Amino acid sequence: MKLRTQTGLTFDDVLLIPKRSSIRSRSEVDTSTHLVPGIRLHIPIISSNMDTVTEAEMAIAMAQAGGIGIIHRFMSIEAQAQAVDKVKRSESFIVEDPLTIAPTTSLREAETIMEEAHIGGLVVVDGEGRLLGLLTSRDMLLAPDKGVSAERVMTPRAELVVASADEALHEARLTLHKHRVEKLPLVDGENRVQGLITAQDIIKLQKHPHATKDERGRLRVGVAVGIHRSDYVRAEACLGGGADLLVVDVAHGHAEHTIQMVRDLKERFPAVPVMAGNVATAAGVRDLAEAGADAVKVGVGSGSICITRVVTGFGVPQLTAVSECAEVGHELGVPIVADGGIRKSGDVSKAIGAGASTVMLGGMLAGTDESPGASVIRDGQQKKVIRGMASLTANVDRKAIDKSEQEIDWGEVVPEGVEAVVPYRGSVGDMLHQIVGGLRSGMSYAGAKTVPEFWENAEFIRITPAGKQESGVHDVDVL
Ligand code: XMP
Repeated sequence: MKLRTQTGLTFDDVLLIPKRSSIRSRSEVDTSTHLVPGIRLHIPIISSNMDTVTEAEMAIAMAQAGGIGIIHRFMSIEAQAQAVDKVKRSESFIVEDPLTIAPTTSLREAETIMEEAHIGGLVVVDGEGRLLGLLTSRDMLLAPDKGVSAERVMTPRAELVVASADEALHEARLTLHKHRVEKLPLVDGENRVQGLITAQDIIKLQKHPHATKDERGRLRVGVAVGIHRSDYVRAEACLGGGADLLVVDVAHGHAEHTIQMVRDLKERFPAVPVMAGNVATAAGVRDLAEAGADAVKVGVGSGSICITRVVTGFGVPQLTAVSECAEVGHELGVPIVADGGIRKSGDVSKAIGAGASTVMLGGMLAGTDESPGASVIRDGQQKKVIRGMASLTANVDRKAIDKSEQEIDWGEVVPEGVEAVVPYRGSVGDMLHQIVGGLRSGMSYAGAKTVPEFWENAEFIRITPAGKQESGVHDVDVL
């Protein structure tokens, strides 16, 4: 037995000490950071791979804001790959593989395809992939008979404005404007469809200038995988859909099977970045990094819905865990993700100041419009459901997804998470605006214009319960 005499600290145990600063405005602060070496985020925020936090809608909003979302793995492989596809199709410079239909497709079928893919138009092609026309949702809006074929309603090729596949984006924009059209099919010399440029994509490009995008202008997205044989298939399916990052998501990430999984994934998909976790010690970071992890997730039992520390007695208070892990992470060039326990923007400042490159948020984002959690009314207030991925119901649902033949023995499940509700919080964009505003302000208090400068300048002071009380609103009735 060993007993460390060092006290483990968490966010509420400390404050950052203000430093001399030359920063006049928060806008001078650059919050950009590495997700993994080679991929930068404009804001250091990742939405958690929980089934009440991140599916396609959240991942789209996170990437548009300059962060990233990790699609959870508590769904079938097909559903997860579809979610990736949805994010990837949501915007791009050029849609390189636009969805196509045959001219004989009925409007009803076309409508279903558009609804499922969340798009407003389909390219109509012949058997050789040659452009015959364009069918948009507007063409179908008032069509009296949804049984008729697309060719009866589409805008035919002769009336379409098209461009060649090497059309530059600014030229495309002028062409779209000149002809007052919303979609510009790209064709080669033989009229074969090569891509599609849409007005919507150009508008989105201007609306989200800091979005996290891949080299083709598509939003980036990560996917969580486990450590079972089927997870190779899961990884492959999601990567096929364009996923940018694999996240090996295990409660105890400092375990030999997790280390082996990281090794295997790096061997099978050498070009794909792998984030792994969760760990709470420097040794954990070292072992996962040695296995090839490109980023390491830190946090054991710190999450809002976690009861790991209560059930098992294990964990390290999160600020201590992050700062110890970050020391090794910086030495090895492996970004650290502070995952769990972040409740306010000040905690984001503290986590980044302690050396993390990014933070992962669950509870703080679960109440937003974009989270998949159910909405409920409690005591007259709108709330949204959040649950731990090791909670009782998540365990039971997982068995159903795995199509496990075994009867569920409820008595055998030992949950390490709970089901709960959080207040409804509006759109994730607004929420992130507040969080990043707090972080920018925090960095300016440290005199830090960049994240590495913040690591350098951050100095913490431990506080007492009286200090904590003083730090919040006190001795007034808040209106
Ligand atoms: P926050 O505090 O942001 O934490 O809600 C989110 C993180 O909590 C972890 N997580 C769990 N940990 N039991 C645990 O011990 C669980 O059931 C559970 N579910 C999620 C996870 O790391 C997440 O990102």
